[in-house]
Amino acid sequence: MNTLLDGMESRPFIPTEYVVRLARTPWERTGYHALRRNVFCTEQHVFAHDDRDALDDVAIPIIAACCIAGMPDRIVGAVRIHETEPGVWRGSRLAVHADHRKLGRIGAELIRMAVSTAHGLGATRFLAQVQEQNVLFFRRLHWKSLGAITLHGLPHHDMQADLARYPAHGQDQTWLLRPQPRTRQVA
Ligand SMILES: CC(C)(COP(=O)(O)OP(=O)(O)OC[C@H]1O[C@@H](n2cnc3c(N)ncnc32)[C@H](O)[C@@H]1OP(=O)(O)O)[C@@H](O)C(=O)NCCC(=O)NCCS
Repeated sequence: MNTLLDGMESRPFIPTEYVVRLARTPWERTGYHALRRNVFCTEQHVFAHDDRDALDDVAIPIIAACCIAGMPDRIVGAVRIHETEPGVWRGSRLAVHADHRKLGRIGAELIRMAVSTAHGLGATRFLAQVQEQNVLFFRRLHWKSLGAITLHGLPHHDMQADLARYPAHGQDQTWLLRPQPRTRQVA
């Protein structure tokens, strides 16, 4: 009987920690946009060369950084939030670098930071247009579908977060994530 780290056998390197926070420095913002381009242009082909739009002028960027020796080394997670009308906030451009998915709950924690930050800024509703393959992921995080839509030619759902599950907090939060590999026994 051997013990395997579930889902991690093929990973060349497993970071010991990540930080999640609002992007503040030029280095964080550059990495945030580079990651979005990597995921939404190169990987998913949703946009041709650049996924930036007018919302980037007003949205609050949130990042996850992979740390080496306790220092942020690379931006590997991104999401942005903005207010569309008084009390109504939206999240968009959620992305985790492919090498860091299903590892440290980075996507889930970016969503938590996004919704709780908006809640702290007065959100009474928090919405997102979610790609169909991620609807279950959001449902598990206490979101409900408001209906199917098509966006950028792809199937999405308009979804709403249960704010009771996302306590309001300020904009100065920094969260440390430490991947906790689950083990499984193999014969
Ligand atoms: C969707 C995405 C952000 C998820 O990020 P992630 O860091 O891999 O997610 P997490 O590690 O936080 O996942 C938390 C849990 O949800 C599960 N999960 C992740 N993606 C899922 C999906 N699409 N469907 C169902 N479950 C999923 C994970 O296995 C994990 O389960 P566990 O708690 O039992 O271990 C990431 O896959 C991604 O960037 N995809 C490409 C871009 C994209 O689709 N963006 C979203 C647009 S709506």
